Amino acid sequence: MTEKNVWLITGAGRGLGVDIAKAALAAGHAVVGTARDAAAVTAAVGEHQDLLAVDLDVTDPAAAQAAVAAAVQRFGRLDVVVNNAGSFQAGFFEEMTPEAFRSQIETTLFGPVNVTRAALPQLRAQRSGLVMTISSTAGIASPVEFTSAYAASKFGVEGFMEALAPEVAPFGITTMLVEPGFFRTELLSPQSTQYAAPSIEDYAERARQTLEAWKGMDGTQGGDPAKLARALVRLVALDEPPARFAAGADAVALFEQKANLLLTQAAAHRDLSVSLAHDDA
Ligand SMILES: NC(=O)c1ccc[n+]([C@@H]2O[C@H](COP(=O)([O-])OP(=O)(O)OC[C@H]3O[C@@H](n4cnc5c(N)ncnc54)[C@H](OP(=O)(O)O)[C@@H]3O)[C@@H](O)[C@H]2O)c1
Repeated sequence: MTEKNVWLITGAGRGLGVDIAKAALAAGHAVVGTARDAAAVTAAVGEHQDLLAVDLDVTDPAAAQAAVAAAVQRFGRLDVVVNNAGSFQAGFFEEMTPEAFRSQIETTLFGPVNVTRAALPQLRAQRSGLVMTISSTAGIASPVEFTSAYAASKFGVEGFMEALAPEVAPFGITTMLVEPGFFRTELLSPQSTQYAAPSIEDYAERARQTLEAWKGMDGTQGGDPAKLARALVRLVALDEPPARFAAGADAVALFEQKANLLLTQAAAHRDLSVSLAHDDA
Protein backbone atom coordinates (compact mmCIF):
# COMPACT_ATOMS: atom_id res chain seq x y z
CA MET A 1 0.00 0.00 0.00
CA THR A 2 1.05 3.60 -0.51
CA GLU A 3 2.11 5.55 2.57
CA LYS A 4 -0.90 7.84 2.58
CA ASN A 5 -3.95 5.63 2.34
CA VAL A 6 -7.54 6.49 1.62
CA TRP A 7 -9.88 5.05 4.25
CA LEU A 8 -13.66 4.71 3.91
CA ILE A 9 -15.33 4.22 7.28
CA THR A 10 -19.00 3.46 7.91
CA GLY A 11 -20.78 4.72 11.00
CA ALA A 12 -18.28 7.54 11.46
CA GLY A 13 -20.66 10.03 13.05
CA ARG A 14 -20.79 8.35 16.45
CA GLY A 15 -18.93 5.69 18.44
CA LEU A 16 -15.86 3.72 17.36
CA GLY A 17 -16.07 5.00 13.78
CA VAL A 18 -15.30 8.53 14.98
CA ASP A 19 -12.18 7.30 16.76
CA ILE A 20 -11.04 5.32 13.72
CA ALA A 21 -11.51 8.41 11.52
CA LYS A 22 -9.54 10.57 13.95
CA ALA A 23 -6.75 8.00 14.28
CA ALA A 24 -6.43 7.56 10.51
CA LEU A 25 -6.31 11.33 9.96
CA ALA A 26 -3.76 11.73 12.75
CA ALA A 27 -1.57 9.13 11.03
CA GLY A 28 -1.64 11.20 7.84
CA HIS A 29 -4.27 9.28 5.88
CA ALA A 30 -7.26 10.61 3.97
CA VAL A 31 -10.68 9.63 5.31
CA VAL A 32 -14.08 9.27 3.72
CA GLY A 33 -16.23 9.34 6.83
CA THR A 34 -19.70 8.05 6.15
CA ALA A 35 -22.85 8.15 8.26
CA ARG A 36 -26.59 8.12 7.83
CA ASP A 37 -26.25 11.88 8.31
CA ALA A 38 -22.94 13.10 6.89
CA ALA A 39 -23.14 16.30 8.97
CA ALA A 40 -22.62 14.14 12.08
CA VAL A 41 -19.19 13.11 10.78
CA THR A 42 -17.88 16.65 10.49
CA ALA A 43 -19.46 17.57 13.82
CA ALA A 44 -17.77 14.62 15.59
CA VAL A 45 -14.44 14.43 13.78
CA GLY A 46 -13.96 18.14 13.03
CA GLU A 47 -13.17 19.85 9.71
CA HIS A 48 -10.03 18.51 8.05
CA GLN A 49 -8.63 18.97 4.55
CA ASP A 50 -8.28 15.21 4.17
CA LEU A 51 -11.78 14.41 5.43
CA LEU A 52 -14.74 13.93 3.11
CA ALA A 53 -18.10 13.36 4.81
CA VAL A 54 -20.62 11.32 2.82
CA ASP A 55 -24.18 10.15 3.52
CA LEU A 56 -24.36 6.37 3.74
CA ASP A 57 -26.99 4.14 5.25
CA VAL A 58 -25.25 0.77 4.91
CA THR A 59 -28.54 -1.01 4.25
CA ASP A 60 -28.80 0.88 0.93
CA PRO A 61 -26.66 -0.75 -1.80
CA ALA A 62 -27.00 2.25 -4.15
CA ALA A 63 -25.79 4.61 -1.43
CA ALA A 64 -22.77 2.34 -0.90
CA GLN A 65 -21.93 2.56 -4.62
CA ALA A 66 -22.30 6.36 -4.47
CA ALA A 67 -20.04 6.63 -1.40
CA VAL A 68 -17.27 4.63 -3.10
CA ALA A 69 -17.63 6.78 -6.22
CA ALA A 70 -17.39 9.95 -4.11
CA ALA A 71 -14.26 8.61 -2.41
CA VAL A 72 -12.53 7.85 -5.69
CA GLN A 73 -13.61 11.14 -7.22
CA ARG A 74 -12.16 13.13 -4.33
CA PHE A 75 -9.01 11.15 -3.50
CA GLY A 76 -8.36 9.15 -6.70
CA ARG A 77 -8.25 5.75 -5.00
CA LEU A 78 -9.48 3.66 -2.07
CA ASP A 79 -7.21 1.61 0.16
CA VAL A 80 -8.96 0.66 3.39
CA VAL A 81 -12.68 -0.05 3.77
CA VAL A 82 -13.90 -0.24 7.36
CA ASN A 83 -17.25 -1.92 7.87
CA ASN A 84 -17.93 -0.46 11.28
CA ALA A 85 -21.58 0.69 11.44
CA GLY A 86 -23.64 -1.34 13.86
CA SER A 87 -26.63 -1.60 16.14
CA PHE A 88 -27.94 -4.08 18.69
CA GLN A 89 -31.35 -5.75 18.59
CA ALA A 90 -31.43 -7.24 22.08
CA GLY A 91 -33.86 -9.65 23.64
CA PHE A 92 -34.84 -13.26 24.03
CA PHE A 93 -35.25 -14.80 20.57
CA GLU A 94 -38.86 -15.79 21.25
CA GLU A 95 -39.75 -12.25 22.30
CA MET A 96 -38.03 -10.53 19.40
CA THR A 97 -40.18 -9.60 16.42
CA PRO A 98 -39.17 -11.04 13.03
CA GLU A 99 -38.74 -7.43 11.86
CA ALA A 100 -36.26 -6.65 14.65
CA PHE A 101 -34.27 -9.81 13.92
CA ARG A 102 -34.19 -9.00 10.21
CA SER A 103 -33.15 -5.40 10.83
CA GLN A 104 -30.12 -6.67 12.78
CA ILE A 105 -29.09 -8.83 9.84
CA GLU A 106 -29.72 -5.97 7.38
CA THR A 107 -27.42 -3.65 9.33
CA THR A 108 -24.57 -5.85 10.56
CA LEU A 109 -24.47 -8.54 7.89
CA PHE A 110 -25.94 -7.05 4.71
CA GLY A 111 -24.40 -3.66 5.56
CA PRO A 112 -20.84 -5.02 5.21
CA VAL A 113 -21.97 -7.09 2.20
CA ASN A 114 -23.33 -3.96 0.45
CA VAL A 115 -20.28 -1.82 1.17
CA THR A 116 -17.79 -4.56 0.28
CA ARG A 117 -19.63 -5.28 -2.97
CA ALA A 118 -19.45 -1.60 -3.86
CA ALA A 119 -15.74 -1.28 -3.02
CA LEU A 120 -14.28 -4.44 -4.59
CA PRO A 121 -14.29 -3.32 -8.25
CA GLN A 122 -12.15 -0.31 -7.30
CA LEU A 123 -9.78 -2.36 -5.11
CA ARG A 124 -9.52 -5.05 -7.80
CA ALA A 125 -8.71 -2.45 -10.47
CA GLN A 126 -5.95 -1.10 -8.20
CA ARG A 127 -4.74 -4.63 -7.37
CA SER A 128 -4.59 -3.59 -3.72
CA GLY A 129 -6.76 -2.83 -0.72
CA LEU A 130 -7.90 -4.02 2.67
CA VAL A 131 -11.47 -4.74 3.75
CA MET A 132 -11.76 -4.56 7.52
CA THR A 133 -14.97 -5.61 9.24
CA ILE A 134 -15.67 -4.81 12.87
CA SER A 135 -17.28 -8.04 13.97
CA SER A 136 -17.54 -8.82 17.68
CA THR A 137 -16.61 -11.47 20.20
CA ALA A 138 -20.27 -12.40 19.58
CA GLY A 139 -19.06 -13.53 16.14
CA ILE A 140 -16.75 -16.08 17.78
CA ALA A 141 -18.87 -17.31 20.70
CA SER A 142 -22.05 -15.97 22.19
CA PRO A 143 -23.47 -18.11 24.96
CA VAL A 144 -25.07 -14.94 26.29
CA GLU A 145 -28.76 -14.14 26.70
CA PHE A 146 -30.30 -11.47 24.42
CA THR A 147 -27.74 -11.90 21.62
CA SER A 148 -29.29 -14.38 19.14
CA ALA A 149 -29.88 -11.84 16.34
CA TYR A 150 -26.65 -9.92 16.94
CA ALA A 151 -24.57 -13.12 17.10
CA ALA A 152 -26.27 -14.47 13.96
CA SER A 153 -25.20 -11.35 12.07
CA LYS A 154 -21.67 -11.34 13.51
CA PHE A 155 -21.13 -15.07 12.86
CA GLY A 156 -22.39 -14.20 9.37
CA VAL A 157 -19.73 -11.55 8.73
CA GLU A 158 -17.09 -13.89 10.10
CA GLY A 159 -17.99 -16.45 7.45
CA PHE A 160 -18.40 -13.79 4.76
CA MET A 161 -14.94 -12.29 5.30
CA GLU A 162 -13.20 -15.64 5.82
CA ALA A 163 -14.61 -17.10 2.60
CA LEU A 164 -14.07 -13.89 0.62
CA ALA A 165 -10.37 -13.76 1.52
CA PRO A 166 -9.10 -16.45 -0.89
CA GLU A 167 -11.33 -15.15 -3.69
CA VAL A 168 -9.75 -11.70 -3.67
CA ALA A 169 -6.23 -12.50 -2.47
CA PRO A 170 -4.93 -12.95 -6.06
CA PHE A 171 -5.86 -9.29 -6.66
CA GLY A 172 -3.75 -8.06 -3.77
CA ILE A 173 -6.82 -7.52 -1.57
CA THR A 174 -6.80 -8.66 2.04
CA THR A 175 -9.52 -8.97 4.66
CA MET A 176 -9.35 -8.37 8.36
CA LEU A 177 -11.88 -9.20 11.06
CA VAL A 178 -11.84 -7.32 14.36
CA GLU A 179 -13.58 -8.87 17.35
CA PRO A 180 -13.98 -6.29 20.12
CA GLY A 181 -15.00 -7.27 23.61
CA PHE A 182 -16.81 -4.56 25.56
CA PHE A 183 -15.80 -1.02 24.53
CA ARG A 184 -17.21 2.21 25.92
CA THR A 185 -19.09 3.53 22.89
CA GLU A 186 -22.77 4.36 22.44
CA LEU A 187 -23.67 0.80 21.37
CA LEU A 188 -25.63 0.04 24.55
CA SER A 189 -27.33 3.45 24.60
CA PRO A 190 -30.98 3.82 23.53
CA GLN A 191 -29.76 5.32 20.23
CA SER A 192 -28.16 2.03 19.22
CA THR A 193 -29.81 -0.73 21.25
CA GLN A 194 -33.43 -1.73 20.92
CA TYR A 195 -34.79 -4.14 23.50
CA ALA A 196 -37.58 -6.56 22.61
CA ALA A 197 -40.77 -5.89 24.53
CA PRO A 198 -41.40 -8.61 27.14
CA SER A 199 -44.35 -10.73 26.05
CA ILE A 200 -43.91 -14.29 27.38
CA GLU A 201 -44.50 -15.03 31.05
CA ASP A 202 -41.96 -17.90 31.09
CA TYR A 203 -39.19 -15.37 30.37
CA ALA A 204 -40.50 -12.51 32.51
CA GLU A 205 -38.14 -12.68 35.50
CA ARG A 206 -35.05 -13.45 33.45
CA ALA A 207 -35.98 -10.70 30.98
CA ARG A 208 -36.15 -8.17 33.80
CA GLN A 209 -32.78 -9.23 35.22
CA THR A 210 -31.04 -9.48 31.85
CA LEU A 211 -32.35 -6.10 30.73
CA GLU A 212 -31.07 -4.54 33.93
CA ALA A 213 -27.66 -6.17 33.46
CA TRP A 214 -27.29 -4.97 29.87
CA LYS A 215 -28.46 -1.45 30.74
CA GLY A 216 -26.02 -1.36 33.66
CA MET A 217 -23.12 -1.91 31.27
CA ASP A 218 -23.86 1.20 29.22
CA GLY A 219 -21.07 3.68 29.89
CA THR A 220 -19.06 1.35 32.12
CA GLN A 221 -17.44 -0.91 29.50
CA GLY A 222 -13.70 -1.36 30.05
CA GLY A 223 -12.43 -0.97 26.48
CA ASP A 224 -11.21 2.42 25.25
CA PRO A 225 -12.31 2.92 21.62
CA ALA A 226 -9.60 5.56 20.99
CA LYS A 227 -6.92 2.99 21.88
CA LEU A 228 -8.58 0.38 19.69
CA ALA A 229 -8.72 2.86 16.79
CA ARG A 230 -5.00 3.63 17.08
CA ALA A 231 -4.24 -0.12 17.24
CA LEU A 232 -6.22 -0.69 14.04
CA VAL A 233 -4.28 2.03 12.21
CA ARG A 234 -1.03 0.34 13.29
CA LEU A 235 -2.21 -3.10 12.21
CA VAL A 236 -3.28 -1.87 8.77
CA ALA A 237 0.24 -0.47 8.23
CA LEU A 238 1.82 -3.92 8.72
CA ASP A 239 3.09 -5.84 5.69
CA GLU A 240 0.69 -8.60 6.67
CA PRO A 241 -2.32 -7.31 8.62
CA PRO A 242 -3.89 -10.08 10.72
CA ALA A 243 -6.93 -11.93 9.35
CA ARG A 244 -8.43 -11.67 12.86
CA PHE A 245 -7.70 -9.35 15.72
CA ALA A 246 -9.01 -10.05 19.22
CA ALA A 247 -9.63 -6.56 20.61
CA GLY A 248 -9.39 -6.44 24.39
CA ALA A 249 -8.30 -8.81 27.15
CA ASP A 250 -11.87 -10.16 27.32
CA ALA A 251 -11.71 -10.95 23.59
CA VAL A 252 -8.41 -12.82 23.94
CA ALA A 253 -9.86 -14.93 26.78
CA LEU A 254 -12.96 -15.72 24.74
CA PHE A 255 -10.89 -16.73 21.69
CA GLU A 256 -8.95 -19.15 23.88
CA GLN A 257 -12.11 -20.59 25.45
CA LYS A 258 -13.72 -21.11 22.05
CA ALA A 259 -10.60 -22.73 20.58
CA ASN A 260 -10.46 -25.14 23.52
CA LEU A 261 -14.20 -25.84 23.31
CA LEU A 262 -13.90 -26.74 19.60
CA LEU A 263 -11.01 -29.10 20.36
CA THR A 264 -13.07 -30.75 23.09
CA GLN A 265 -16.10 -31.05 20.83
CA ALA A 266 -14.04 -32.49 17.96
CA ALA A 267 -12.60 -35.11 20.30
CA ALA A 268 -15.79 -35.96 22.18
CA HIS A 269 -17.30 -38.25 19.51
CA ARG A 270 -14.23 -38.66 17.37
CA ASP A 271 -14.82 -42.33 16.52
CA LEU A 272 -18.41 -41.66 15.43
CA SER A 273 -17.42 -38.46 13.60
CA VAL A 274 -14.81 -40.18 11.45
CA SER A 275 -16.99 -43.23 10.71
CA LEU A 276 -19.46 -41.58 8.37
CA ALA A 277 -17.90 -42.10 4.93
CA HIS A 278 -19.25 -44.50 2.29
CA ASP A 279 -17.61 -47.91 2.64
CA ASP A 280 -15.94 -47.40 -0.77
CA ALA A 281 -14.63 -43.93 -0.01
N1 LIG B 1 -18.81 -1.16 21.66
C1 LIG B 1 -18.66 -2.45 21.84
O1 LIG B 1 -18.54 -2.95 22.96
C2 LIG B 1 -18.60 -3.35 20.65
C3 LIG B 1 -18.26 -4.70 20.86
C4 LIG B 1 -18.19 -5.55 19.78
C5 LIG B 1 -18.46 -5.08 18.53
N2 LIG B 1 -18.80 -3.77 18.33
C6 LIG B 1 -19.09 -3.33 16.97
O2 LIG B 1 -18.39 -2.13 16.72
C7 LIG B 1 -19.05 -1.44 15.67
C8 LIG B 1 -19.18 0.03 16.05
O3 LIG B 1 -20.15 0.13 17.09
P1 LIG B 1 -19.96 1.16 18.30
O4 LIG B 1 -19.56 0.37 19.47
O5 LIG B 1 -19.16 2.32 17.88
O6 LIG B 1 -21.49 1.56 18.54
P2 LIG B 1 -22.20 3.01 18.49
O7 LIG B 1 -21.46 3.95 19.35
O8 LIG B 1 -23.61 2.72 18.80
O9 LIG B 1 -22.06 3.46 16.98
C9 LIG B 1 -22.76 2.78 15.98
C10 LIG B 1 -22.57 3.54 14.70
O10 LIG B 1 -23.19 2.80 13.63
C11 LIG B 1 -24.00 3.70 12.90
N3 LIG B 1 -25.11 3.02 12.22
C12 LIG B 1 -26.08 2.24 12.75
N4 LIG B 1 -26.89 1.80 11.79
C13 LIG B 1 -26.42 2.32 10.62
C14 LIG B 1 -26.82 2.20 9.26
N5 LIG B 1 -27.90 1.48 8.89
N6 LIG B 1 -26.09 2.84 8.31
C15 LIG B 1 -25.01 3.57 8.66
N7 LIG B 1 -24.59 3.72 9.93
C16 LIG B 1 -25.29 3.08 10.90
C17 LIG B 1 -24.47 4.71 13.91
O11 LIG B 1 -24.89 5.86 13.25
P3 LIG B 1 -26.27 6.66 13.62
O12 LIG B 1 -25.82 7.83 14.44
O13 LIG B 1 -26.80 7.04 12.29
O14 LIG B 1 -27.16 5.71 14.36
C18 LIG B 1 -23.20 4.92 14.72
O15 LIG B 1 -22.33 5.82 14.07
C19 LIG B 1 -20.37 -2.14 15.45
O16 LIG B 1 -20.28 -2.98 14.32
C20 LIG B 1 -20.53 -2.97 16.71
O17 LIG B 1 -21.34 -4.12 16.50
C21 LIG B 1 -18.88 -2.90 19.37
